[in-house]
Amino acid sequence: MYITSVRVNGFKNLKEINISPHQKLNIFCGDNAQGKTNLIEALWLCSGVRSFRGTKDKDMIDISGENMEIAVRFRDRLREQEIVYRMARPYVKEKSCSLNGVKLRAPSKLFGSLDCVVFTPEDLELSKGSPEKRRQFIDLAAAQIKNSYKSVSDKYEQVLDQRNTLLKNISYGKSGKDELDVWDIQLAQMGAYMSLLRYNYSKKLGAYASKLYSDISGGREALELVYSSTVFPVLEGRTDYKGDLAEEYLTVLRQSRDDDISHGFTQKGVHRDDLCAYIDKLPARDFASQGQHRSIALVMKLAQANILTEETDDAPVFLLDDVLSELDPSRQEFVISRIDNMQVFITCCDESIPENKTGKLYHIGSGRIV
Ligand SMILES: Nc1ncnc2c1ncn2[C@@H]1O[C@H](COP(=O)(O)OP(=O)(O)OP(=O)(O)O)[C@@H](O)[C@H]1O
Ligand SMILES: [Mg+2]
Repeated sequence: MYITSVRVNGFKNLKEINISPHQKLNIFCGDNAQGKTNLIEALWLCSGVRSFRGTKDKDMIDISGENMEIAVRFRDRLREQEIVYRMARPYVKEKSCSLNGVKLRAPSKLFGSLDCVVFTPEDLELSKGSPEKRRQFIDLAAAQIKNSYKSVSDKYEQVLDQRNTLLKNISYGKSGKDELDVWDIQLAQMGAYMSLLRYNYSKKLGAYASKLYSDISGGREALELVYSSTVFPVLEGRTDYKGDLAEEYLTVLRQSRDDDISHGFTQKGVHRDDLCAYIDKLPARDFASQGQHRSIALVMKLAQANILTEETDDAPVFLLDDVLSELDPSRQEFVISRIDNMQVFITCCDESIPENKTGKLYHIGSGRIV
């Protein structure tokens, strides 16, 4: 899919942006603090996912303004669609979003229409950083190809919070252990489903990522991605998430109750799982160099885009914020060569335009296209 027009006004420092992007390559160039990342963020919000830099609602509107509007038209395999995202002070929680003129209940309802993959300098920490980052990555990526996943993973978080609160109440003597039953059953059902989906997603991701990693390392190193479950020793070959897997999950939760009560926290479950990378069989967490970590992060994002393309039969829009300047020339070239089939939005400070490519180059200054 590709974006055919973008209008942004009053989102942070962006003013009167009105562009018709190139179907493939779009580069946004400008000095620091001019609004390049803001533009990437505005596009990302239209994919129905919270800001990748955690912007608060009130800070989405120009500090000296009252309203903001982002309007994006895009073409997918079947048709042209339009997203309009508006906010106004003082009721910044009441965001108004519409898809093809139909008002949506919340921005999250946009999810699944405009598929984007975003890559920011923080994502270069994906392999090196905390397991939480990788769980967030896999949850979003899995939800992009499986509609039902997102509501389950959101609900899981809520139920987990409730169970953890109860664990503390039990340790204070305010509640009884038997009250855990109702939460454990729900967690087991959702957790079994999430484990299986994440496992299957990780296998697909691993297959693409290994191939890409072999290419990026000139065939010298082999990457393996392994989903590490805190509940199931083996997920390979298993399918029955409503039956056996949910039963086993429940048993694990029940067995760790006493431990959980003393910690005041649920020790086992999908919220503690990880996606582990191995290079030449050695765990990246302990052995990888800075450059290897970056390459792993890079191929994970590229693999995510490949899976989306395969599963939805349509390539996502790739948003690359300021990442190229963080990579050495050979990795830059590698990335550019692997996103050839997608529409790409790249931001950078200098005009380092990839050679032999056609596209559009925009200059951003003080929140405007200049
Ligand atoms: N709510 C807001 N209202 C007005 N301006 C804002 C708001 N939020 C952020 N800004 C401004 O947006 C600018 C930052 O924009 P952005 O992060 O897009 O910069 P950038 O061009 O990506 O810079 P860099 O190259 O350093 O990454 C800052 O000058 C900041 O003050
Ligand atoms: Mg920036």
